[in-house]
Amino acid sequence: MGSVILALFLAGYLGQQYLPPPKPRVVGLDLGTTYCSVGVFHPGVGDVEVIADEAGRKSVPSAVSFTPTRVLVGHEAQDLADSNPQNTVYDAKRFIGKVFGEDLLKQESARYPFQVINNNGSAEFLVTTNHTFTVSPEFIGSRLLLKLKEMAEKQLGVPIQKAVISVPAEFDERQRNYTIRAANLAGLEILRVINEPTAAAMAYGLHKVDVFNVLVVDLGGGTLDVSLLNKQGGMFITRAMAGNNKLGGQDFSQRLLQHMMDQVRLTFGIAATLKEDIHRLRQHAEEAKLNLTLRPSVSIQVPLRLHAAETPGAPKPPVVFKMTITREVFEELNADLFQKILAPIQTVLTEGRLEREEVDEIVLVGGSTRIPRIRQLISQFFGKEPNTSVDPDLAVVMGVAIQAGIMGGSWPLQVSAIEIPNRHLRKVNFN
Ligand SMILES: *[C@@H]1O[C@H](CO)[C@@H](O)[C@H](O)[C@H]1NC(C)=O
Ligand SMILES: *[C@@H]1O[C@H](CO)[C@@H](O)[C@H](O)[C@H]1NC(C)=O
Ligand SMILES: *[C@@H]1O[C@H](CO)[C@@H](O)[C@H](O)[C@H]1NC(C)=O
Ligand SMILES: *[C@@H]1O[C@H](CO)[C@@H](O)[C@H](O)[C@H]1NC(C)=O
Ligand SMILES: *[C@@H]1O[C@H](CO)[C@@H](O)[C@H](O)[C@H]1NC(C)=O
Repeated sequence: MGSVILALFLAGYLGQQYLPPPKPRVVGLDLGTTYCSVGVFHPGVGDVEVIADEAGRKSVPSAVSFTPTRVLVGHEAQDLADSNPQNTVYDAKRFIGKVFGEDLLKQESARYPFQVINNNGSAEFLVTTNHTFTVSPEFIGSRLLLKLKEMAEKQLGVPIQKAVISVPAEFDERQRNYTIRAANLAGLEILRVINEPTAAAMAYGLHKVDVFNVLVVDLGGGTLDVSLLNKQGGMFITRAMAGNNKLGGQDFSQRLLQHMMDQVRLTFGIAATLKEDIHRLRQHAEEAKLNLTLRPSVSIQVPLRLHAAETPGAPKPPVVFKMTITREVFEELNADLFQKILAPIQTVLTEGRLEREEVDEIVLVGGSTRIPRIRQLISQFFGKEPNTSVDPDLAVVMGVAIQAGIMGGSWPLQVSAIEIPNRHLRKVNFN
């Protein structure tokens, strides 16, 4: 009995001595082209937490869908992309704060099921529900950021008004300003804007260790960005940037899909042309691609209808298309695309006047850098292993959360990293 009381007393005493650390009030935001996330730094434990939604998902699709009665955001919006394509806006980040010529905007617009219109050089999206109206890319951004803000508030139990946000290194001042405007529309004050590659480097703790040259390879669904960072006295400087705006995971899936369609034709003597068949094959191609990262081969079974209604004769029963795909085949199908990753890497080294041996750390960001062959190509090129311990989909948000922790004052000052803006840098594009 006595010991229980003593224990309770001690617990109370210790509780007072070691008050729970204050809740973080500054969040880190990664407003990505296809996914966005929010994270916080917990000073007590020294951990970064990427905040999950009700379903435990840490990445929210960067999509907003308009219906006559509602504005849906994230997964809910993505679910409507097929049934409400003209009013489901995604990829808004590609338009935010950017000044477009008439032709470029037409070209961009052709890629999307929704309408992109030109408002004096700025892009706007045309939405038609019960009435027709336009929304700006920063409005789309604000709805996504509001969703992230609410997720953070729910998880932390405190109101959130301040944030740090990441942007691509190539964003100019106007694009940065409009990103800040999107956050302001969501009721968030932006304390700092940091470059995505810098954030990724921070996720690996590279602001705390002795490194000089960091190369960041960010390969997402549709774009490749390579940045060469230089760290001097705790400060990151972007030395060179290069990339390919038309290379990413979608292209690798597309090659696999094409291969599967060829196989369907060989197997059944008829091409898969029905929309639903192609849709199903595309889903399986995407899933097979992901699985081939972990396994040497996958077997797929896809039910297909193959026959359109106008096919003469009685409707045939659906068929099941079966196929085994090896990692080797996937790599062969994409060999030329994978090879293209090395060109911008070579360019940033040339522009930064560095030999490949002088790169201290290589940081991989973006889901497509999970592909074993891509990792292998990069490590062969440098003769050393890239840094891959952080989830490549969450590296940026984790780094932004660390910067948010620094801004919130919950980090020892000596490791506060900052970034020196580099206004004269241009990104070299390979397309
Ligand atoms: C259109 O843009 C130009 C330059 O960006 C600006 O000078 C002009 O005032 C704008 N016109 C309108 C109607 O907003
Ligand atoms: C939109 O139109 C539908 C059907 O025409 C109607 O039922 C609905 O109330 C309208 N919604 C709004 C918000 O006006
Ligand atoms: C960006 O915002 C800053 C501060 O509000 C302003 O001084 C600057 O002129 C803006 N730049 C551009 C290109 O919009
Ligand atoms: C991929 O992996 C998941 C789980 O790891 C499994 O459920 C699924 O059947 C696999 N798909 C293929 C095509 O192998
Ligand atoms: C990854 O980065 C850390 C620095 O945080 C370093 O200690 C480690 O050796 C790196 N790993 C690889 C494989 O380069």
